[in-house]
Amino acid sequence: MKEKIAVYPGSFDPITNGHLDIIQRGLTLFDKVIVTVAVNPSKNALFTIEERLEMIRESVKGISNIEIDTFEGLLIDYAAKRKACAILRGLRAMSDFEFEFQMAMMNRRLSRDIQTVFLMTGFRWFFISSSAIKEVAHFGGKIEGMVPEIVCEKLKEKFKSIKPAKCRP
Ligand code: PNS
Repeated sequence: MKEKIAVYPGSFDPITNGHLDIIQRGLTLFDKVIVTVAVNPSKNALFTIEERLEMIRESVKGISNIEIDTFEGLLIDYAAKRKACAILRGLRAMSDFEFEFQMAMMNRRLSRDIQTVFLMTGFRWFFISSSAIKEVAHFGGKIEGMVPEIVCEKLKEKFKSIKPAKCRP
């Protein structure tokens, strides 16, 4: 039987426990999940692509049927090239929906052969996003338990040299 492959695209700047939860759930539905980092130079990322890939690699150690990759250009073209039958995306709150809906519809317009599959993240990760994690880490807050250990270390390293801005009295 044909292998069922899903691509799980994103910025992963950085990967969080919410992303890992989606990967694990995705693997219960698909034979293989390709976690793919979007190369988008116009997006102001904190981590380089290489740093992001390294953090993902380290975080998924021990999980089988995963591949880690990058893509440039249209996601739907990449998914077709990788012979994926689905694009996997995580949903947390309603606020995610508008963007995700637009993206899924656009991708369907571009190709009807690849389905977008949304999975709900576990309850514990509902409020976690890469941006929130970066903000908390920037101001010296505790991020343990919300991101893989390697991400904790890398964020601490990144922000060591950047002093948080002082609040006005
Ligand atoms: O983690 P993110 O930033 O929410 O991921 C968004 C991403 C990278 C999946 C999305 O921006 C994307 O697919 N970019 C590639 C360009 C593309 O295919 N655009 C058409 C769909 S609107």
